[in-house]
Amino acid sequence: MKRRALWLAVSAAMLSCAATGSHAQSYDEARARQAWVLNCMGCHTADGSGIPGKVPPLRDSLGHFVSLKDGRDFVMRVPGASNSALSDAELANVLNWVLGTMNPQSRPASLAPYTADEVAAHRRPALTDVARVRAKLIRQLQENGVNAVPEHY
Ligand code: HEC
Repeated sequence: MKRRALWLAVSAAMLSCAATGSHAQSYDEARARQAWVLNCMGCHTADGSGIPGKVPPLRDSLGHFVSLKDGRDFVMRVPGASNSALSDAELANVLNWVLGTMNPQSRPASLAPYTADEVAAHRRPALTDVARVRAKLIRQLQENGVNAVPEHY
């Protein structure tokens, strides 16, 4: 009886996974939204499109950055993320949410979610030369055939 209940639970989980076409969600939606609204949205705008000439979009671009090892670090170390009041776990959560909801096409299929431990180990020091690091990452992406992230926003 117990075995059967377990089997049913596992099948149900697999079915719902297949139905949504996604793996176990790597973020807590409600907490991520709250963190986004209070700590990121004011600059990056509600839907993550940014402000032309001032604030880069996070939509359809972060997924490309995190495909590079240095890009994965970059995303944690830009001042807005690194210096935010968010705990390591909260920053990991909101980054996973931005990747999951605003970058479904651009993120690598096999992307490992950010964890609190990873954020704790890498978010500091905040970058002081964002533009230079960003330009280098964009060159690397272009060498990999990815031209989707604009150099100027
Ligand atoms: C005070 C405004 C402000 C806030 C708040 C802010 N950002 Fe930013 N963000 C920027 C600006 C401006 C840049 C461009 C780089 C720079 O000058 O720091 C940027 C760049 C980024 C980038 C790099 C994107 C790219 O294409 O270069 C990421 C990732 C990012 N921010 C994430 C976040 C996250 C996550 C939060 C919330 C925890 C956040 N930011 C909060 C203004 C902000």
